[in-house]
Amino acid sequence: MIKKIQVSQIKNGMYIHDFNCGWLNHPFLTNSMLVDSDEIIKKVVDYGIRELYIDTNKGYDVADAPTEVEVKQQIEAEITKVVEQEKRHVYAPVPIHEEIAKAKEIRQEAKKTVQNIMDDIKFGKQIETEKVGRVVDDMIESIFRNQDALISLGRIKEKDEYTYMHSVSVCVLMLSFGKHLGFDLQILREIGAGAMLHDIGKMIVPQAVLNKEEGLTEEELKLMKKHVEYSRTLLEQTQGMTENAIVIASQHHERVDGTGYPLGLKGDDISYYSKAVAIVDVYDAMTSKRCYQDQYLPTEVLRKLYEWSSHHYDRDLVQQFIRCVGIYPVGTLVRMESGRIGVIIKHGEKNLLQPVVRVVYNMKSGDFLRIPYDVDLSSTSGKNGEDRIAGYESPKRFNIRPEVYL
Ligand SMILES: [Fe+2]
Ligand SMILES: [Fe+2]
Repeated sequence: MIKKIQVSQIKNGMYIHDFNCGWLNHPFLTNSMLVDSDEIIKKVVDYGIRELYIDTNKGYDVADAPTEVEVKQQIEAEITKVVEQEKRHVYAPVPIHEEIAKAKEIRQEAKKTVQNIMDDIKFGKQIETEKVGRVVDDMIESIFRNQDALISLGRIKEKDEYTYMHSVSVCVLMLSFGKHLGFDLQILREIGAGAMLHDIGKMIVPQAVLNKEEGLTEEELKLMKKHVEYSRTLLEQTQGMTENAIVIASQHHERVDGTGYPLGLKGDDISYYSKAVAIVDVYDAMTSKRCYQDQYLPTEVLRKLYEWSSHHYDRDLVQQFIRCVGIYPVGTLVRMESGRIGVIIKHGEKNLLQPVVRVVYNMKSGDFLRIPYDVDLSSTSGKNGEDRIAGYESPKRFNIRPEVYL
């Protein structure tokens, strides 16, 4: 059985199933292992891991620890409460099908800009702040017309484009999060630039480390972590870069319990904007395909973020972020209890758990629909009523490109 334990409960003879520490950049070469020395325990504690999962079939058990299933159910119930309280209607003056083409252009432009900047860094050239500013302004405008257009494009990511597209997506998500939190235009511009350039220092990290497929050694991990200081220095040397942008890049790997890096800052020593970008950064990294990782579903990542917000992330901001992106982000593919498969095209206005789904495939008949139709899950009557989302579906499995249906 998989159980969750506190780090104080760990002892020799236990089998670690999952370090529960966020992403694969941890100092252990595998994700699971038998604890057979005090050395391992020390490493776990030193790395700032507070809670982890053990496999009681492969090692010692702990009587009073909750099972993974219990933890999952508890978190899901809490998240449901968080989104149920959200009855806010997001005003979007332009419908998504009208905004999507423009959003694609902006995203392409943003990608080109980031790519050029990153290439320039390798040759020791200066960052052109005005170019970043222009793209960020375009993104802000698109987000105010209809934020779901740009966000829904975030999930289409090719492996080799990861570093560029991650920067673009973190920027998009950060801007919509900022809008959700009510930041003014100037702040949005500043945090947008900071988000877009937060990982720029990675261009100075050796490529072999950056793109390594297997786990990193301790030495390599140290080199990887250096990207934060490089980002800060690069932005400090850039004319016209604001303090907020520099702080975001400098603090995006700090964690509220002091287990982050490079400074190990705690609580309010980390800026509010940096606490927000830390959430967005991990959300995007985990929902993307990377060289060494398959992507996780948005709901799984939100659940993990919520779990980690008891130590590493700001709980209130995580709750706000869940309300901002919704449990079912626009552009994701879902399966309904009736067996219909569809793309989320709109958040639920009455309840975030009841979005509008565009049905494109029927599992019972095994057919694609020639003319897709929409189901509003908040309506309880008619032939489309009474249905509920059963879970996510992989677009690959059905060979569906969700963005086509938006
Ligand atoms: Fe980073
Ligand atoms: Fe990042």
